[in-house]
Amino acid sequence: MQAVTIQTFGDPAGLAVVDLPAPVPAAGQVLIAVEAIGVSGADAMIRRGTLDGYGFRPGHVPGSEVAGVVTAVGDGVDGSWLGRRVWAFTGLGGGYAELALAPVEEILPLPGGLSAATAVTLGSSGVVAHFALAHAHFAAGESVLVRGAAGSIGITAVQVAASAGAGAVAVTTASARRGERLRELGATHVLDRAGRAGSVGPAGADAPDHYDVVLDIVAGPDLPAFLTRLARNGRLVAVGAIAGPPPVDFGMTLFAAFQRSWSFATFSADTVPVTDRQAVRTEQFAAAARGELRTVVHALLPLAQAASAHRSMDAGEVFGRIVLTPTGG
Ligand SMILES: NC(=O)c1ccc[n+]([C@@H]2O[C@H](COP(=O)([O-])OP(=O)(O)OC[C@H]3O[C@@H](n4cnc5c(N)ncnc54)[C@H](OP(=O)(O)O)[C@@H]3O)[C@@H](O)[C@H]2O)c1
Repeated sequence: MQAVTIQTFGDPAGLAVVDLPAPVPAAGQVLIAVEAIGVSGADAMIRRGTLDGYGFRPGHVPGSEVAGVVTAVGDGVDGSWLGRRVWAFTGLGGGYAELALAPVEEILPLPGGLSAATAVTLGSSGVVAHFALAHAHFAAGESVLVRGAAGSIGITAVQVAASAGAGAVAVTTASARRGERLRELGATHVLDRAGRAGSVGPAGADAPDHYDVVLDIVAGPDLPAFLTRLARNGRLVAVGAIAGPPPVDFGMTLFAAFQRSWSFATFSADTVPVTDRQAVRTEQFAAAARGELRTVVHALLPLAQAASAHRSMDAGEVFGRIVLTPTGG
């Protein structure tokens, strides 16, 4: 089968198309003939070598999210899965390939009307958005700021917060055009990456100064500045670290505002039981099939153009998610 491997960590040029033997499902696994592969921020971090502490080695096949048809099952897996179209979480890798393995508990049937590309844009990120807002104890009527909203997690978080009755849904983005697209999805105010109103269009003019909930996908050196955007009893939940870790003393910002009762938390979907993740994913897939939850496929590219997809990620050109397809789209 054709697959993409990381031959050298660092530049996207280190990604190579290779021929590998077809994998064989072990007990509890299924084999999927892949139709669509989601290209995630985590894939880019692994390829850059940022996550070398996890022990990734040259030859690693990246990709954790695919959709396609089950073509074989391992011992102990119900044979009725054969021939079904599914979304699948493949783990820390294995997705950038014509054939991929997944544990049976991490697959979900695709409802009619949901494309494979939509499924791999929503499958992981939708669950992260949903449970991160729950982790923040977000309630109807509260104001939310989604920092780094132009990716697939933010795009879903904006819609989930808006449809749950948020009092305001502000977003940060680097461009006015992206801000407009986020407003079409439910954002009420558009701020620049530093959280300032005005520089990315007029939609931030009357934005709140402070928010009940900040969903932060970016972290990095500016995290303390976004802590100061919390209202009394406000909660900032860090969901990602696109800009790297925060300063080591960021907790001092919390302490300095002791009397405002702010909370800081990290959130990883890994802490949510798989049955809960699958239940929310099932609802979100159905909502997407009905057109009530929107996803943004930035581009559909052949698997062999994985390096090009990663270059676009590194250049900050992607709104939503790039999807690779072994059949070339
Ligand atoms: N918690 C979990 O369970 C979980 C699960 C999966 C992934 N993740 C994490 O989520 C992150 C990826 O999420 P995603 O795919 O939605 O995001 P993404 O597409 O990688 O990025 C979202 C947006 O953030 C903005 N951005 C990029 N660099 C920035 C910077 N230096 N400062 C400020 N804004 C910046 C960009 O928009 P603009 O250019 O418009 O500003 C970008 O489009 C990764 O850190 C990944 O590890 C977490």
